Amino acid sequence: MQFKSHINKLIRIQTSENRDIKKGVLLDRNERVESFDEGTYKKILKSISRFSINATPDIQDLYKLLSKTFKINKKNIYIGQGITELMSQIIFSLVKKNEQVILMDPTYPMYDVWCKLHGVKYKKWKFNKDYKLDVKDLKRIINKKTKILFIVNPNLPIEYELSTQQKKEIYRICKKNKTILVYDEAYYHFGSKSEIKNSINKDIIVMRTFSKAWGLPSIRLGFLVTNKKLRDYLSKCRSLVETNALSFQIAMWALKNKKILNQHVNQIKKGSKYITREFKKISQPYIGGQVTNAMLVKLKTQKDVLNLKKYMEKKKIYIRTNFKNQIENFFRISLGSERKMKIFFKAFLKWKLINDRSN
Ligand SMILES: Cc1ncc(COP(=O)(O)O)c(C=O)c1O
Repeated sequence: MQFKSHINKLIRIQTSENRDIKKGVLLDRNERVESFDEGTYKKILKSISRFSINATPDIQDLYKLLSKTFKINKKNIYIGQGITELMSQIIFSLVKKNEQVILMDPTYPMYDVWCKLHGVKYKKWKFNKDYKLDVKDLKRIINKKTKILFIVNPNLPIEYELSTQQKKEIYRICKKNKTILVYDEAYYHFGSKSEIKNSINKDIIVMRTFSKAWGLPSIRLGFLVTNKKLRDYLSKCRSLVETNALSFQIAMWALKNKKILNQHVNQIKKGSKYITREFKKISQPYIGGQVTNAMLVKLKTQKDVLNLKKYMEKKKIYIRTNFKNQIENFFRISLGSERKMKIFFKAFLKWKLINDRSN
């Protein structure tokens, strides 16, 4: 059989398989660490109409509710199956042969995967050795061939939020090169500044998700906001409908119960405060925990990182490793309640003791 060579060459690694979701401490995928309590779960199920299962979904009510919640005209909103699907549709529909994309590096790995799957060339705007982005470096790589600049703001795994000044400068550079500026604001609700209002009349796209602060990665739902012309064009990429009946009703339930989001964000802030304090006490280097729900933690060697992962896995505490280049000696933890952070930290201290003794 003749395969497409660029797809054939692509290596996909499925992370986080075989976790004990019920009993484990899930710190590896930036999800909601705490499961929903029984009462909330029942309410979510109750929000799904019996009459919605047998029909093709009509998600107009979700458009209306998103419009009301975020005070954005629904003509500027397009819903997709998570930011991840929207990223793909943006690349697929906008980038022509000989055009390029710019990605931050390191960032959410699916950007790299989509570019490769769509056979699109990309350049990397790399973090410097102080774990910061310099607009001067962007100026060096952007040109008239750059169709899209993807900015994850705030970014992960290196947590970084661009300043207002940097964003203004970036927009100016994009306008000059006729580059569409896409902001991935997956972590917005943890306390960063948004570009959503700016995106309505400009060639700026802002993407949001239900996967992070809303705590619903399972429903695979997100949306983008941009000018009407671009919105209408991108929406041609939708499948039969944007999403399924279960997902859109759960998203509506979430939007009507914003206190769940607020409680979740508060819980993470408390967890972050606790773990930051403990890390400082033992002079443990880390990055993040301010405007996202994650933290990068530095160990001495890559071997230590692998060791720790195995040690934690035995205790059903799942952490993210396998980072490359300048962050290869780091592992990442998602932030959750103080209780879950305590479980992690206790195990971390134990491992450190064993590891220090054996070195
Ligand atoms: C920056 C960023 N964007 C998007 C996503 C995924 O969003 P979604 O679940 O809406 O596809 C992630 C998940 O880790 C992420 O880190």
